[in-house]
Amino acid sequence: MSSVINALKLQQDIFGDDLFLSNLSELNSEIREVVIPKTEIKENIISDNDMKLKSKKSEIDSYEKLICNCQECPLGSTRNKFVYGVGDAETKIMLVGEGPGADEDEQGEPFVGRAGKLLNDILKAIQIERNSVYIANIVKCRPPENRKPTPEEMSKCIPYLHKQIEIIAPKHILCLGTTAAEGLLGLKGLLKNMRLQTYSLMNATVSVTYHPAALLRNPNFKRDCWEDVQKFKKLIDSEGN
Ligand code: URA
Repeated sequence: MSSVINALKLQQDIFGDDLFLSNLSELNSEIREVVIPKTEIKENIISDNDMKLKSKKSEIDSYEKLICNCQECPLGSTRNKFVYGVGDAETKIMLVGEGPGADEDEQGEPFVGRAGKLLNDILKAIQIERNSVYIANIVKCRPPENRKPTPEEMSKCIPYLHKQIEIIAPKHILCLGTTAAEGLLGLKGLLKNMRLQTYSLMNATVSVTYHPAALLRNPNFKRDCWEDVQKFKKLIDSEGN
């Protein structure tokens, strides 16, 4: 009983006084497949043979060493730290944000500022620990003034994310915000529409919800986000492992 009360309290802390009783009985039955052009995956950076001999942890670490001095786009010259990604390389859950902000640029880790704290709380509310997932961004270097990354910056950086996905091979990916959904899934339009569907990419199901920073700016999005993350959790649990 106390765990139910604690869970409700956590939901209240994050999402407010309204009790959201969502209709989660039907998971999205239709999954839209997204195909990445082969050229977008940086192949042959580490040979397949070398890869097979290594654990995912050492593969993901080696890959960071290969790309961390990247100067492929102008963000390379203004960044403080390259924000590669963090978490459990053996996970089946990956979260994708937009790009580093000031705190992330300073610390070299994704989602460590205010939005990151809210993200941690949202994960807790669905019984997922931050350190049990892998978190990365569409771009690895901070866009000045926290502006949205340009299409060119995104297209230079996205192959790195594809390679991370290939190494980690998550079963479930959650895109946080419009830029993540645009960059990873090639979607256009409004997030409120993007979130209504589940996608399939590189053998993972991909869900879309609001960016935590958007929730901080506009609490009206919280209800939909709560529904999205519960659906995401239900999808994970439905696999049973
Ligand atoms: N916002 C993002 O999209 N990513 C981060 O790492 C931090 C804030």
